[in-house]
Amino acid sequence: MPSSNRPSPAPQPQPQPIEALVSAPSAALAEADDTAASAPGFAPTPDSDELLAIAKERLLGNYRPAPVVFVRGRGSVLEDSRGERYLDFAAGVAVNALGHAHPRLVRTIADQAAKLMHVSNYFYNEENVLLAKELCEKTGFDRAFFCNSGGEANEAMLKLARRHFYERGQKDKYRFIAFDNSFHGRTLATVNLTGNPSYKEGFGPQLEGITHVPFGDIERVREVMGPDVCGIFVEPVQGEGGVLPASTEFLRGLRALADEHGALLLVDEIQTGMGRTGRLLGSDHAGVRADVITLAKGLAGGFPIGAMLVREELAGALPPGTHGSTFGGNPLASAAARAVLSVLYEDELIDGAAKKGELLGARLAELAARHPDMCEGERGLGLLRGIILKPGIDARQALGRVRDKGVLLTIAGSRVLRFTPPLVVTEVEIDEAVRRVDEALASLRLESISAG
Ligand SMILES: Cc1ncc(COP(=O)(O)O)c(C=O)c1O
Repeated sequence: MPSSNRPSPAPQPQPQPIEALVSAPSAALAEADDTAASAPGFAPTPDSDELLAIAKERLLGNYRPAPVVFVRGRGSVLEDSRGERYLDFAAGVAVNALGHAHPRLVRTIADQAAKLMHVSNYFYNEENVLLAKELCEKTGFDRAFFCNSGGEANEAMLKLARRHFYERGQKDKYRFIAFDNSFHGRTLATVNLTGNPSYKEGFGPQLEGITHVPFGDIERVREVMGPDVCGIFVEPVQGEGGVLPASTEFLRGLRALADEHGALLLVDEIQTGMGRTGRLLGSDHAGVRADVITLAKGLAGGFPIGAMLVREELAGALPPGTHGSTFGGNPLASAAARAVLSVLYEDELIDGAAKKGELLGARLAELAARHPDMCEGERGLGLLRGIILKPGIDARQALGRVRDKGVLLTIAGSRVLRFTPPLVVTEVEIDEAVRRVDEALASLRLESISAG
């Protein structure tokens, strides 16, 4: 179990000494415990086994969660209901950009909740107006639409692209080009856009007007382009598909083809945006400007929010009554996103993600080289990285062994262990996480040898 792999104590840099967080009760977490225990009206919390039994009985069953129940976190560390601590290199699947319980984000959410939480889009609210301004200024886009998740943001992008041409009298310009192996969400439209047939199996007929082509194959895109194409839908790095960065030439080629055919370049920055790859947007690496982007995940550091940012020419594409979202852009989510945006710049976390991403990439390359029988290599950008397991290595089993060593990762594609630590992760934590993954792979090898 994780606590058996405690590193030896040594002074460490902020935000939190890893030893204190991983192996001994930190003052901060203990204090949080006391507060929770003394709060009035709380029934005694069931223990871990009881919680897992309730989850099995009462949750729908559409996920396959690990048998761990988390109760609190701080920085890059999570603590479960048994008191075990983990280095969280999943970060809620690239969501907790500021780590857990970041004081600025916590304070902002608490203050805003006490001030104004929700008013609906029948009115403006201060936080949302200011968030739109700040996001547009930082990204260079002109207008923003807000919603609550990535899938919902991509729904908006699909609708906006079709409706833009409809408004201009080009009613037959509604086809999308999307890519094999892509992931764009779980709503009915976005599973149809997603380039993995298993996600849409059993959900009825294919949505009309989507053509999938191999990711990276610009010639194939050229072949399938036509006057009926309203948009090319692409991720700068296919995250769920296995951490596959698009090449600069490919993204620039898509921009050129979109322009040639009067189509929109629609970039899904849900996983790659908000500094995750070491630039504010994943598409910034290629110097490509999209017509529309979507954001979610890290945007409010764990508070649910999604956004679509568009160029001025598209400002009238969704006239009043054509689209909306009850919770979208509410003051609480907007305040959280504004706090995250401020901290990203004040603490230079985007440049930090580039620098720490280099370190993580180098460490993962060394790790892969130390286990050539199990790993093919590493790939990724910034703090969105993966090690590619060899065919035949069971990714789920590897993930479990890594978790047993006290590190949380996710699987991307069928055989990539994905690393998406918080942007506040320290170099010490990166080294420690990689050391533990190394031990996990070694123990997996020993296990398979002894199993014959
Ligand atoms: C690139 C991309 N698009 C869309 C989504 C869907 O976002 P959500 O789960 O918030 O609906 C994801 C989620 O993993 C994603 O990675």
